Amino acid sequence: MNVLLILLVSLLSLAENAKLVRKYYPLKWANCPINASMQVDVFVPKVFTKFMNMSAVLHIRENIPGNLTFTAETNKCSLDMKNCEKYLDVGVMELDLIKIFSFKDVCRLIEDKNMFYSAALTNIAPPLICPFKAGDHILKPSVLDLSIGEMFRAEGFIWVANFRLIAITTKVQLSITSWENCPGNQSMKMYASTNDTYGDQTKIYIPTTIDVSRDVKDLSELTLEVNRCDFEMKKCEKPFPLRFTDLCKSFNNKKAFYYGFISTIKPPISCPIKADKYTATNGSFDLSASYFLPIRDNVWITKTKLYCNEGKKRELVLCLMSTIKVTQTRARRVGSRQKKINQK
Ligand SMILES: *[C@@H]1O[C@H](CO)[C@@H](O)[C@H](O)[C@H]1NC(C)=O
Ligand SMILES: *[C@@H]1O[C@H](CO)[C@@H](O)[C@H](O)[C@H]1NC(C)=O
Ligand SMILES: *[C@@H]1O[C@H](CO)[C@@H](O)[C@H](O)[C@H]1NC(C)=O
Ligand SMILES: *[C@@H]1O[C@H](CO)[C@@H](O)[C@H](O)[C@H]1NC(C)=O
Ligand SMILES: *[C@@H]1O[C@H](CO)[C@@H](O)[C@H](O)[C@H]1NC(C)=O
Ligand SMILES: *[C@@H]1O[C@H](CO)[C@@H](O)[C@H](O)[C@H]1NC(C)=O
Repeated sequence: MNVLLILLVSLLSLAENAKLVRKYYPLKWANCPINASMQVDVFVPKVFTKFMNMSAVLHIRENIPGNLTFTAETNKCSLDMKNCEKYLDVGVMELDLIKIFSFKDVCRLIEDKNMFYSAALTNIAPPLICPFKAGDHILKPSVLDLSIGEMFRAEGFIWVANFRLIAITTKVQLSITSWENCPGNQSMKMYASTNDTYGDQTKIYIPTTIDVSRDVKDLSELTLEVNRCDFEMKKCEKPFPLRFTDLCKSFNNKKAFYYGFISTIKPPISCPIKADKYTATNGSFDLSASYFLPIRDNVWITKTKLYCNEGKKRELVLCLMSTIKVTQTRARRVGSRQKKINQK
């Protein structure tokens, strides 16, 4: 990421006249004082010429879904910092050289193996892969050749650049607003601590206890009735019913959306299900497969029914009603940094 940031500075900083030895004096690198999802510590020499040996630590504080856009804003200031003017806004820069980069799609820039920064990117461990996951990434010392910017006249000023990385996908929050077992004498009752429920756009975590009052031979069928309503609950529609069969057989299917739930149940659950009290303190449902559904900014009212086949008789063993609220938040900044470069 930061390698990309440097590129832009170099374009602005290198001198027009190749006969002179240009020296760069980085004065300050700082993360902007906002609570960004990503922060970067940069280590560069106090002075360098057109080869810059840099290392960095990227702290990604939370998962950053989706596409990233990069912007850089540059200010040219006099050496006493009394006069500054906005010099170039790279996002709208007309220069052909820069137009070859699509700053809107940082993920693709990272994957490109033929860029002058590509070698440096391979020095990042663990590698940066979109979508970014929470964790630290270390850029081992890497030498960047900044001579690409030699056509620019930049000496004699202090350059102040602001870099921003913006996540342009929307973030989705899921929360369970109600959860009830249907009235009746079903063998299984499932209780959720709705306060502790949390989720993002791919997973919802529901700490749960399951009381099984009588042995249940199998789980032959699960039906899910869904109503999708707007926040005011004025308009509702039934987009689709879902039905799954033979659940016992697919308990161990790692790809199933409920695997993150079933596999965390204690004591481990298997068919036939013995009467007992089960807990899934950190059970999750994977909703990434439902990405294609228009699930944003809605209230989902669901009724889940689980059946057991007793001979020819179908018995309702679990019946649950829940309401899930889905909200999305718009683009926000994930990382930002300021750099001043002084050139003499
Ligand atoms: C910054 O974010 C962390 C966790 O994301 C949060 O605990 C903290 O309160 C936030 N601070 C500010 C000033 O927003
Ligand atoms: C780059 O800097 C590191 C220390 O930060 C040093 O170990 C390494 O030798 C330097 N590499 C070059 C090519 O100057
Ligand atoms: C990222 O951007 C590309 C190109 O604009 C687009 O095709 C893709 O769907 C986007 N991905 C996401 C997750 O928004
Ligand atoms: C619940 O159902 C079981 C058999 O399925 C039965 O033995 C029991 O008496 C029922 N309890 C109530 C309160 O209806
Ligand atoms: C859930 O929230 C309610 C009311 O807000 C509170 O009384 C209860 O203690 C909370 N439960 C947990 C497990 O935090
Ligand atoms: C819940 O599971 C997630 C991953 O599946 C893990 O990151 C998290 O630490 C777990 N939380 C608890 C309280 O066990």
